[in-house]
Amino acid sequence: MSTIAAVILAAGQGTRMRSAIPKVLHRLAGRPMVQYVIDAARGAGIDRQVVVLGHAADEVGRVLGPSIETVVQPVQRGTADAVLCAAAALEGAPDLTDIVIAYGDCPLLTSTVFANLVDQRRATGATIALVVSPTDDPQGYGRVVRRDDGSVRAIVEEAAASESERAIREINAGVYCVEASWLWEALRRVRPSASGEYYLTDIVGLAVESGRLVQSIEQSLAVTAGVNDRVQLSLAESIIRDQIRRRLMLAGVTMVDPSAVYVDDGVSIGGDTVVYPGTWLEGETTIGSGCTVGPSSRISDSTIGDHVTIEMSVVERSKVASGTRIGPFSHLRPGARIGENVELGNFAEVKNSSVGAGTKMHHMSYLGDADVGQRVNIGAGTITCNFDAESGTKNRTVIGDDASLGSDTMLVSPVTLGSRAMTGAGAVVNRDVDADTLVVGVPARALRRRKPPSA
Ligand code: UD1
Ligand code: CA
Repeated sequence: MSTIAAVILAAGQGTRMRSAIPKVLHRLAGRPMVQYVIDAARGAGIDRQVVVLGHAADEVGRVLGPSIETVVQPVQRGTADAVLCAAAALEGAPDLTDIVIAYGDCPLLTSTVFANLVDQRRATGATIALVVSPTDDPQGYGRVVRRDDGSVRAIVEEAAASESERAIREINAGVYCVEASWLWEALRRVRPSASGEYYLTDIVGLAVESGRLVQSIEQSLAVTAGVNDRVQLSLAESIIRDQIRRRLMLAGVTMVDPSAVYVDDGVSIGGDTVVYPGTWLEGETTIGSGCTVGPSSRISDSTIGDHVTIEMSVVERSKVASGTRIGPFSHLRPGARIGENVELGNFAEVKNSSVGAGTKMHHMSYLGDADVGQRVNIGAGTITCNFDAESGTKNRTVIGDDASLGSDTMLVSPVTLGSRAMTGAGAVVNRDVDADTLVVGVPARALRRRKPPSA
């Protein structure tokens, strides 16, 4: 059986980015650039992916994770040298017939481009099939030089191009499918350019000179564009974000002014959810159906149920169950677990706490390291004093079901309030409160038993 391997180049520093971050780790819609290329190749059914690392290899390798096969190019001597670094992993592998090569800085590539390229090489028996793009602005790209009969003669890099070659408006997109049995020997024949770089693109001329067939397929720059600087990064990002929004809208999500809605790759949103402008949905976020999100909200790495309203609020690494209302102006910090039909905000902050179904906290309150029961009423200005400055530790506050806290209650943790406990306005609670008991004052003392609930 014949198999295909992809070699993805990610060893360069990306000098033109002017960045301390390796170029291929710059993010587009929340994911590193190189990850898009890996996923597109994988989506085309390419059996094996080998990523060539070099500059900041450890850092890039860590971000890609252990499941990705990598090799290292010790010195960045050019793209031909980079591919040759994969020879140890791939040369002579049984049944390997096709090597697909792509650059890790082309995040718009799709699985279809890879699949068409492989089909083209196999159908024509060409030694190399490569992707080319027409453009009015070829600057920075290798130019495609053709013979009179229209066939590809060579790729000329901009630095080595003559004036007439520079005027060519057809560029090398940098995606190739090469006959595996020919590639490695050809790479070893590449000679350094005037600048000392080994250009992968020279293998095209080598193939033509030895009478081999080179085929090209055309794809628009909208899918082939490379990212060399931050202007190109922003253009690629806007294309990716547009694709994400279109996919979600076609799946039943309403966006009021989509250009002002920013959704990371991988975020899922249920049908009939309405997203208002100024909203950022980031990371591993799932939003249910029938929700109203925004305006001006940021939700990252969170799971939101159905029919939830989040208005002018920030939600990070939190879970919010169905029917709940957050905001305006609330902040759910990591570890907030909010039950069904809860109402939080204006100005509510919750961190590392669970809040039971039906609980209400409407005005200017803070819950940190707390476990709050169901149907609790939290009065304006209630605060968990969860940090013990003397010991430097955080302590928990536990509040039973149906408790009712008066305005401006201070809960000095560790402290537990039983079910249906009640506090008076301004109470400073530094000792546990029994169930059904009303406490008042500073420090709070039991005043009386609460009346039992009317049946
Ligand atoms: C390259 C092509 C050019 C093409 C363009 C398409 C070459 C010589 N030129 O130019 O014809 O039009 O892409 O976008 O191939 N890399 C390594 N090791 C190295 C050098 C580079 O792994 O020693 C990696 C980089 O990390 C990058 C990719 O190869 O992901 C391309 O390198 P880059 O310097 O961006 O090439 P371009 O000048 O864009
Ligand atoms: Ca590039």
